[in-house]
Amino acid sequence: MKPEETTILLLHGFPFGPEMWSRQRATFAAKGCRVVAPDLRLETSPATMDDMAAEAVAALDAAGARQAVVVGFSMGGYVAFALLERYPERVAGLALVDTRAEADGEEGKAGRRKLAAEALERGPQAAVDAMLGKLLSPATRERRPDVAEEAKRIMLSTSGKAIAAAALGMAERPDRTAMLSGIRVPTLVVVGEDDAITPPALARGLADAIPGAALRVLPEAGHLAVMERPEAFDEALAAWLENI
Ligand code: MLT
Repeated sequence: MKPEETTILLLHGFPFGPEMWSRQRATFAAKGCRVVAPDLRLETSPATMDDMAAEAVAALDAAGARQAVVVGFSMGGYVAFALLERYPERVAGLALVDTRAEADGEEGKAGRRKLAAEALERGPQAAVDAMLGKLLSPATRERRPDVAEEAKRIMLSTSGKAIAAAALGMAERPDRTAMLSGIRVPTLVVVGEDDAITPPALARGLADAIPGAALRVLPEAGHLAVMERPEAFDEALAAWLENI
């Protein structure tokens, strides 16, 4: 794909916002791509993955982009599946980053409801307390305190209402494993080697289930690989884009 003819749609994770993509925005805009990074922090509860996909499509419309390479990180990956299902004609390629196709189990759903209630009561600090410790690789925790600080800052900029709405929306997302074998767009699966939330074994399963999908495992990166190892992530995405 030629960069100047490519729109990249960056779908952020939970409880983050589009700011988490600041490095990717700069890298791919400098290559000549059109970059669209919508804010998916909806406050109407539950904020379903379909609601967020509709928001992302509205952002593509506003940018005048008919099709995009959809890059979904974690919750953004769940949104990417919803977008592919509902608006397949808008998807030119798919990059699934530190994410999964499975729905939550009963324990996971209960955890979401608990976090939603706490976020409404205590605000975004509830999500920081529940999640920050699990997001980063040991290498990042030791050597890059700035990444933890930046992640925390973005999390704290998300309202308790948006956190609750997204948590409840994720709890009711459907299992997408049945759609994987029918995916016909070029697909890249990326995972941090130390991702404790969506580990590499899960990413391998995801890549194996999607016809022709490529897999990249980023060393010394955890769940938040795109912020922990932005150069490695951007290189992997750029190299894959060149070949599709
Ligand atoms: C994310 O990073 O978006 C979340 O870890 C997704 C989730 O909680 O399932």
